Amino acid sequence: MTFPYFVMSAACACLLSLTGCATTQAPSQHVVRTTGGVVVSVDRYASDIGAAVLRRGGHAVDAAVAVGFALAVTWPEAGNVGGGGFMLVREATGEAIFVDYRETAPAAAGPTYFLDAAGRVDPQRVRLGGWSAGIPGTVAGLAAAHARYGRLPWKSLVEPAVALARDGFIVDDRLTAGLAAQLPELTQFQATRDVFFHGGKTPVAPGERLSQADLARVLETVAKDGPRAFYEGPLASGMVEAMKAAGGSWTAADLAAYRVVIRQPLRFTFRGLSLLAAPPPSSSGVAIGEMLAILDGLAPESLTAGAPQTLHLLAETMRRAFLDRALHLGDPDHVPAVTTDAARLLTPAHAAERRTSIDRGRASRSAALAPPGLLSAPAEGSDTTHFSVVDAAGNAVANTYTIEESFGSKAVLPGYGFLLNNELHDFNVKPGHTDRSGAVGTAPNQVAPGKRPLSSMAPLMVERATTEAGVTRHGELVAVLGSPGGRTIINTVFQVFLNLFVFKLAPEAAVAAPRVHHQWMPDRLFVEREVPTATIEALLGMGHSVERLPRNLGHANTIVREGDRWVGIVDARRGGHAAAAP
Ligand code: GLY
Repeated sequence: MTFPYFVMSAACACLLSLTGCATTQAPSQHVVRTTGGVVVSVDRYASDIGAAVLRRGGHAVDAAVAVGFALAVTWPEAGNVGGGGFMLVREATGEAIFVDYRETAPAAAGPTYFLDAAGRVDPQRVRLGGWSAGIPGTVAGLAAAHARYGRLPWKSLVEPAVALARDGFIVDDRLTAGLAAQLPELTQFQATRDVFFHGGKTPVAPGERLSQADLARVLETVAKDGPRAFYEGPLASGMVEAMKAAGGSWTAADLAAYRVVIRQPLRFTFRGLSLLAAPPPSSSGVAIGEMLAILDGLAPESLTAGAPQTLHLLAETMRRAFLDRALHLGDPDHVPAVTTDAARLLTPAHAAERRTSIDRGRASRSAALAPPGLLSAPAEGSDTTHFSVVDAAGNAVANTYTIEESFGSKAVLPGYGFLLNNELHDFNVKPGHTDRSGAVGTAPNQVAPGKRPLSSMAPLMVERATTEAGVTRHGELVAVLGSPGGRTIINTVFQVFLNLFVFKLAPEAAVAAPRVHHQWMPDRLFVEREVPTATIEALLGMGHSVERLPRNLGHANTIVREGDRWVGIVDARRGGHAAAAP
């Protein structure tokens, strides 16, 4: 990854006008300040397309739809039509909804879906190729949001992506590096080789124009015939046939049955702020709410960002929330107890009970916190992408969507040009097997037909709030947050929130500050490279097992209110582009 990086920027404008365009290069912007609208995503094409939609009078949701489809072309690591995600929408009036377009398990799924004949987890079934793919929700999810809030025609929002796929876009060094990093698995699949590799083994190079004719045809059908064409009719039945050949279990009935769920965001308050967070089947809102409730009794204002004592207390807080995640969370529509358990995990009484075992000077042992019988005798994928949008009227979108691992199952669906997700990997793949390596086998997140796998995706918004006589009034929007990163997403978003609103760092510093991650099991505190050695030594001295990560944690593309302006901040860890729509 380079910073800043450069792409052929003029392509974006001409994709919208579909007229000729000169090729000039312009640097991607990592920070913008504007009194208008702003789009922050991992990719310059997508952010510029979103900003152009805002300039045409589109709602933040219109821009998000266009960005979502554009990333499906230009950011195949995670942008998708073959996956799913969550969109948190907050209107300027303060009304908010959570669009759950998470993938669902196909009808063939059951307790032995991921196991081989000997009852062992089969890595191929879990991670690679069609078997690991859930029923995609992205097209339906973007359409559901558009149906509620869209001002511009659907077709006009999909068309820029059609043009990008048909006419091509200029590859940047990040895509080439990503393909090279996953080359052995990606090149197992002929259709993947055909799209992304020369001669079956050389990734498309930076500066090359990459066209994707099959994907263009899929997008064109969705643009012209509408979103249901992805789920029923000739396109859908063709996809099911191709899936059979690709070793998947999808049926026409699975696709036709896919439904978006509109949920209420979780809301909780903290220090004069109201947070709108992701409810189950995401674990993120409950985990972040529980961590804040635990921190509430630990005087977080007295802590300094990045100090050993701070990181110790964050690790202890994370450890406990991730244990509760493993014990209690899953798809609430399949496991009714999830709803009541989630509410209980957010109570001050539960936080106080969890807090009693925290020692301010000494690390706990994760195994000692586990209920008896949970642990068997002796990693979730980390690619996903998040973008944030605010329009000039103050309507906002936090959208995180995914195909699970980087490039999903690694298999492009032959003839359809999109990468299949391997989201079923987010289920607890071996029922009953929870161990010290981080495998979780608890009941709430075991696979079943039609069920959504537990997610860590954390689109989050923050408002000012005032509480008088027990009544909370929600005020102005002050931040839009989110990140990729599998289970680490929760802790990335948690730390960006703390940096902004508890440690009071400036917006750019809040996103840039080094991050840490603890997820109960393995009992290890993961730290980014930039955490100083002296800090690591102090944490080791408190009894933490510390591992410095070779890569960064997350990619928190964030929008923050600063006086009368929005500040759009790209997380430099992976780069991207912040585009203003004045
Ligand atoms: N696949 C990442 C997540 O949903 O958490």
